[in-house]
Amino acid sequence: MEIYNYSELDNSVLGKPINLDKGSRGDVYRYGDIAIKKYRSVSYDCDNIQLDMFENLRKIQLPAFVELIDCTTEVVEDERETYDIYGRPNKREVVSAYSSRFYETSDEFMIDKPMDYTLNSLYEFKKLVEELNKKDIVIADSHGENLIVADNNIVIIDPDLYRKHKNPDKINQKRVKEYLRELWLDEYDREFETEYVIKNLFKGSIDETIDRIKSSNESTPRKLLARELKR
Ligand SMILES: Nc1ncnc2c1ncn2[C@@H]1O[C@H](COP(=O)(O)OP(=O)(O)O)[C@@H](O)[C@H]1O
Ligand SMILES: [Mg+2]
Repeated sequence: MEIYNYSELDNSVLGKPINLDKGSRGDVYRYGDIAIKKYRSVSYDCDNIQLDMFENLRKIQLPAFVELIDCTTEVVEDERETYDIYGRPNKREVVSAYSSRFYETSDEFMIDKPMDYTLNSLYEFKKLVEELNKKDIVIADSHGENLIVADNNIVIIDPDLYRKHKNPDKINQKRVKEYLRELWLDEYDREFETEYVIKNLFKGSIDETIDRIKSSNESTPRKLLARELKR
C-alpha cells in the first residue's frame, strides 16, 4: 500500500512546514504536487487519523474533498503496558504520516468571488454529505482553516477527527455549513453582527441555504453581507 515512507523523508528534502503558524497535531510540507502531513506524536492512544478511516476516505473522489493518496504507519505498543488475552503487549497500527494532493490557494477571498463560486461549492458539499452519509461517517473539526479556496470550488482538508456515526446526515449538513460560516467570518470580520447575519443565511438544510443565496441576487458574498448588515 505504501508508495513511499513519508515519515522517513528528511527535512533537508521537505524544507520548512507550510503550517508553521498554525497549532496542530502535525507538520505539513509541500512536496511537489503533494502535501505531506507528518504527525508529531505517534502513540497507542493518539488521535491521528485511523487507518481504516483513512482507507475509507481515500475512496471518496469528489471535488469538495481532499484527495488522499497514501499513508505510512507504525506499530506501537500501549505505553500503559496493557496486555491482550494471550498476555502479549497490546499493539496498534498508527498512521504516522499521510500524503494528499496539494491544492493551490486562490489569491482572492471566497467572499469576493462571484456568487456562483459559493453556489457551486455548496452543490459539491451536498454530494460530499451524501457520500459520507452512505459510509456512516461524521464530519468534525469544521474550522475555516481546514478549507482551501481552490479555483473552482472550496476543498475540505484535514479529516483527522472524522468518526463513524450511525445517522450522520443532519450533523454533516450542519458541519459543512459551519466550515463556510467560519471562513466567511474570517474573511469579512469577526463582529457579533456579522456572525448573526451569517448564521441566518446558513440556517436550515444545504438546499434552503442555496435557495436563500440564489434569491438574494447579489453578485458576491461580500455584497450580500454588506447589504444584510445595513438593514
Ligand atoms: N492538501 C493540502 N493542500 C494545500 N495545503 C494544505 C493541504 N493540507 C494541509 N495544508 C495546509 O496545512 C495546514 C494544516 O493542515 P491540516 O491538515 O489542517 O493539519 P492541522 O490542522 O492538524 O495542522 C492547512 O491549514 C493548510 O494551510
Ligand atoms: Mg487543520
